[in-house]
Amino acid sequence: MEKTINSEDNVIALSEARKGVQSSIAASNLTPNQIVSLLDKYIIGQKDAKKSVAIALRNRLRRQHVSDDLRDEIMPNNIIMIGPTGVGKTEIARRLAKLAKAPFVKVEASKFTEVGYVGRDVESMIRDLVDQSVAMVRSERSEDVREKAALLVEERLLDILLPPLGSSQNSVDNDEPGEEETPGTALPDEHDKSLEVNRRSRKKMLERLRNGKLEDRQIEMDISGDSPGGMMQIFGPLGQMEEIGGIMQDLMSGLPRKRKKRRVSIADARKLLEQEEVQKLIDMDSVVKEAINKVEQSGIVFIDEIDKIAAPSSGSGGKGPDVSREGVQRDLLPIVEGSNVATKHGMVKTDHVLFIASGAFHVAKPSDLIPELQGRFPIRVELKSLTEDDFYLILTQPDNALIKQYSALLATEGVDLTFSDGAIREIAKIAARVNESVENIGARRLHTIMTNLLEELMFNIPENFADEHVVIDEVMVKEKLNHVVADRDLSQYIL
Ligand SMILES: Nc1ncnc2c1ncn2[C@@H]1O[C@H](COP(=O)(O)OP(=O)(O)OP(=O)(O)O)[C@@H](O)[C@H]1O
Ligand SMILES: [Mg+2]
Repeated sequence: MEKTINSEDNVIALSEARKGVQSSIAASNLTPNQIVSLLDKYIIGQKDAKKSVAIALRNRLRRQHVSDDLRDEIMPNNIIMIGPTGVGKTEIARRLAKLAKAPFVKVEASKFTEVGYVGRDVESMIRDLVDQSVAMVRSERSEDVREKAALLVEERLLDILLPPLGSSQNSVDNDEPGEEETPGTALPDEHDKSLEVNRRSRKKMLERLRNGKLEDRQIEMDISGDSPGGMMQIFGPLGQMEEIGGIMQDLMSGLPRKRKKRRVSIADARKLLEQEEVQKLIDMDSVVKEAINKVEQSGIVFIDEIDKIAAPSSGSGGKGPDVSREGVQRDLLPIVEGSNVATKHGMVKTDHVLFIASGAFHVAKPSDLIPELQGRFPIRVELKSLTEDDFYLILTQPDNALIKQYSALLATEGVDLTFSDGAIREIAKIAARVNESVENIGARRLHTIMTNLLEELMFNIPENFADEHVVIDEVMVKEKLNHVVADRDLSQYIL
């Protein structure tokens, strides 16, 4: 049943999902089965977790089609993912957000403090989500107007290079004056003629511009300076103050920006002008409206390390110095349950934002969270520790598998790097062994092992290396790593 979808369908599903962005509320049309198959491309194993998130995502779409009165009653299925470090919790959430095309933020629960203490208040996660959504919608809209903007930019560049005759434009900033057929001050009776000449030279110039022949030419142009609110970032770390900073920034961005004259290449000018034109073509009010709608209907907040704000009930741990942990949980309640959060873009309702929490829960247990919060995360999924076989698959299967990454890196130097199957098996075996003997850091172990294994190669290419083909085999892996693995002290530091 699981493999009902082949990879070709996935590609179609993915590109469908991409198209789906255009619809304002970006619930992608992926079925739970398709979602799981897409996640399978990046994450090995963890079937239960994938299934849960797939259902939660699909329920969003289903909810959109429920009749109005019932729709508002249907709450998202917030999820807690429980599992040791490095087994794919964050990875699942991140990939999910990508394919859902939904606004997504990842926050660390341990960063928050109860209102009144110094630190970030929990509402900031919603503000971040809205910012993210605005950026997302804005970039979608930019895509839509890009072509139009490009034409306008072309026109502006042409005006700088060769102002149309009879226009009041006086900033002839041609680098090499007289190089083109720019007519001098024409006599009145020759006026018509010079108009015609100007028109023709502009046409020629446009052609050269389009052919990319002028990209390196320097021109002088007005550039809008940085927004005067730039300095407001100093408010950043101060929790609530950052919002004030944001508001001030908004107020100040209404002020006329300083314009500076600068010499730039046409290539750079094109980029700068394009930004300006795109900005002018986009209706920010409607962007914000859509962005807020997107957050309210399909936003996803990933709260990492939620176990860090749960106080273990028994044991010596007790109440540590961070007394505000429970306070943070209480502050979280209304947001997860659904409330209005004020952001610089307006009020945002959080009722239907999907929350996915995750934690290792080594010390504290989910039941150590305050009961009200537990109830708001009704779905629990456990992620499993990764085995040697999982490591083998993780090294080879995902689209972004480490082996593929390293091969791609070296391909840029003209070296063809391959691994024998035995080598990959050996790496997986070593990873599992070190995880067992030193500390279980999950798939992250593969990174440390691979860097160690390939360090010399990475260093010696390109100078001290002649071969075009490098094959890493089992013997090499053993030679390079076995003495480290055998020595527990050594592997503690190196692997
Ligand atoms: N099941 C898996 N399949 C493929 N890659 C994985 C898997 N688990 C982990 N990885 C890889 O390991 C890295 C770390 O995983 P991830 O960030 O998801 O860990 P985590 O479970 O969130 O751990 P932590 O509790 O420390 O936050 C990722 O970059 C990912 O590439
Ligand atoms: Mg994580």
